Amino acid sequence: MTETDARHFLTGRELTSEVLSALLERGLELKSAPRSSSALEGAIVALLFERPSTRTRLSFEAGIVELGGSSVTLRAEELQLSRGESVRDTALVLSRQVQAVGVRTGEHDVLEELARWASIPVFNMLTALHHPCQALADLLTLRETFGSLPGLRVAYVGDGNNVARSLAILGELAGVEVVIASPPGYSLADIDGPAPETGTAELVADPREAVAGAQAVYTDVWVSMGDEQTAAQRRRDLAPYRVDEDLLAAASADAIALHCLPAHPGEEITTEVLYGPRQRIWDQAENRRHAQKALLEHLLPS
Ligand code: CP
Repeated sequence: MTETDARHFLTGRELTSEVLSALLERGLELKSAPRSSSALEGAIVALLFERPSTRTRLSFEAGIVELGGSSVTLRAEELQLSRGESVRDTALVLSRQVQAVGVRTGEHDVLEELARWASIPVFNMLTALHHPCQALADLLTLRETFGSLPGLRVAYVGDGNNVARSLAILGELAGVEVVIASPPGYSLADIDGPAPETGTAELVADPREAVAGAQAVYTDVWVSMGDEQTAAQRRRDLAPYRVDEDLLAAASADAIALHCLPAHPGEEITTEVLYGPRQRIWDQAENRRHAQKALLEHLLPS
């Protein structure tokens, strides 16, 4: 038995610029007519969660129903995977029961191993390294707000994490200038080593330098899943990177605030920005569904 060549979405690098642009266009079409596609009619999609989720689970489950398909949500601790069954065998069994599988797991290697052996499309619903479905929704929100993407500047401020990495990768494909401001020790250059997976994204330390001229100021939690042991230290180190009205005022006059959620108001973002007139954060959360529906149509062409 050998590896298969099913169409996967693990980091976002599987897409070309042209395909990404078409996906975003399709996401906007689906947003304006959510029940217009029955692309998943008769299809069953498994959603495997090793970690908690609100937006990802809801948006995939709702989106699959809107596309005429069915989803099966699996908790990893309820599978034989938790008792030592291999990822390879899990992939082989999934491939004989459902038409695609989404995975939220810690180690990116687990996702890659599953994709290696699955004969069905595998898509990444978050690993410690990548969150490409989030980046699709981020770009959809920018395109919806500004009309087109090439030439936009997006400043991500705070922890150099999976969300920042995926924004950098997909932003480059979309022609968006991504600047990531993180304190020493939290930069993707510190985490990824000499060859960070950030493509053309600029990595800086000063949040004001990052937001200068930016059309979007983006942040994420300071204590991600798995970082709980160092929470107090992280909050101290990242405090100068809080997105507040002052920082937003240093960006472009038309700048919007983004956050992938869940938020911790008073930590990485103030309440005023989170619910204020310049945020597009709740649209961004909704756009998970529309962007992912376009992705599913791409991964499961009829
Ligand atoms: N942004 C995001 O992935 O949210 P959930 O963790 O709630 O799925």
